[in-house]
Amino acid sequence: MSKQQLIIFDTTMRDGEQSPGASMTLEEKVRIGKALERMRVDVIEAGFAIASQGDFEAVRAVAEAVKESRICSLSRARFEDIDRAAEALKPANAARIHTFLATSPIHMKYKLRMEPDAVLETAVRAVKYARNLVEDVEFSCEDAGRSEIDFLCRVIEATIDAGARTINIPDTVGYAIPNQFGEMIGQIIQRVPNAHKAIFSVHCHNDLGLAVSNSLAAVLNGARQVECTINGLGERAGNAALEEIVMAVKTRGDLFPVETRINTMEIVPTSRLVSSVTGFPVQPNKAIVGANAFAHESGIHQDGVLKHRETYEIMKAEDVGWNANKMVLGKHSGRAAFRARLEQLGIEFGSDNSLNQLFVRFKELADKKHEIFDEDLHALISDTLQDVEETYKLVTLEVTSKTGAIPEAKLVVSVEGVEKSVTATGSGPVDATFRAIEAVANSGTMLELYSVNAITSGTDSQGEVTVRLNQAGRIINGHGADTDIVVASAKAYLNALNLMRTSSRREHPQGVTGV
Ligand code: KIV
Ligand code: ZN
Repeated sequence: MSKQQLIIFDTTMRDGEQSPGASMTLEEKVRIGKALERMRVDVIEAGFAIASQGDFEAVRAVAEAVKESRICSLSRARFEDIDRAAEALKPANAARIHTFLATSPIHMKYKLRMEPDAVLETAVRAVKYARNLVEDVEFSCEDAGRSEIDFLCRVIEATIDAGARTINIPDTVGYAIPNQFGEMIGQIIQRVPNAHKAIFSVHCHNDLGLAVSNSLAAVLNGARQVECTINGLGERAGNAALEEIVMAVKTRGDLFPVETRINTMEIVPTSRLVSSVTGFPVQPNKAIVGANAFAHESGIHQDGVLKHRETYEIMKAEDVGWNANKMVLGKHSGRAAFRARLEQLGIEFGSDNSLNQLFVRFKELADKKHEIFDEDLHALISDTLQDVEETYKLVTLEVTSKTGAIPEAKLVVSVEGVEKSVTATGSGPVDATFRAIEAVANSGTMLELYSVNAITSGTDSQGEVTVRLNQAGRIINGHGADTDIVVASAKAYLNALNLMRTSSRREHPQGVTGV
């Protein structure tokens, strides 16, 4: 029997970016967009265009750069949101506006302060308005997981009549349980008279750790689009993980009447890219993309796998792109090879000038580390091509760290072109470095997170550092990479300070009242 297509709708750059501290720059979004395109994701939700000028430009840049996937922008059920989304999506080959309004009693009463009939009317008006601007409109009943089914069916029927081609049923607060959620999707599809005119989609949050299970239960009951994110990134406990949905459907093809178009070989490289951009490490035991997902520790398992792989393995590591990070370049690689690899990775470096800049940094790195992997290249790009004004720039750093002595950092930093020197001590070399930076910047920020990850294996690996700063509730993640982790830490801290000065506040799509 031929299988139906399960549409994979990736919202890493919209819902994923709603994870505190997971903000991405325009250039990073384009890079992630290209990676998702290579993976053959059907729909990419590139952002929430009205949230800020930066979000608008990012949606437009992704729409310009990505031509094989459909590009989507979120919008509330307001005309000005929808206009902004349509404007940002203009360069897209295939565009979708995703508009939403809450339908649960609790959201309607306390958040929207609207009567159900007004909600229905507003939803219909928004869908009709969006359909005047684009062909492809998706409507989401926010908090559908806690909505009354009779009202949900009324809203869905009316919004399909108004022109919505996709109806999304989100479990916004991660409250659903697989059997119950699957049944609910099945019932809606059965009860809505014009259900055959739309694709039913689900969007599950992971507050009870059930986002993937709930999404799969929905697929078994007729959903034909799943909204998900790389590494399960997303608001609070996150969304359903794309890699888990795709591999569950593929591995258990005996149970699922659907198949995806995803090129699974791109899963691990894309997971690593998203982790590196956001600074959210992937836990080692994470399904599919965790470092231990295919590692067999116990002797019995190792013995079994050696005799016959399928004794303990249900998937092949290479099928999801493990080992795809081929050693690419080294100290003797030339400009042409470097350029070719960037192009293969879909990295747009813009002008020849940027390429030159990158090549110089690549050579510096190759002097310290003789095997350069794709992950190193991504870190290099993040470091070099950031569209952030460098108010603070690291000039030199000298750190002394000796058993029994107090660590000391001597820092020279350029502040708007003027060099400043400072010395500070701390409980360790990183602490001393951060104190030295603060002695110059006096930023009034709180350090919320400091994390170091080895980008590749081996002691010559670059350390990738994430520094999360909080300035009166505004959270910014800075990143830095270097083979010296104290230098990487200083770069990450300065990067966060620079971002703090340039990026503006964004509106949260679901955090506002009224429509
Ligand atoms: O969780 C949710 O309900 C959402 C909607 C905007 C689709 O993210
Ligand atoms: Zn969501």
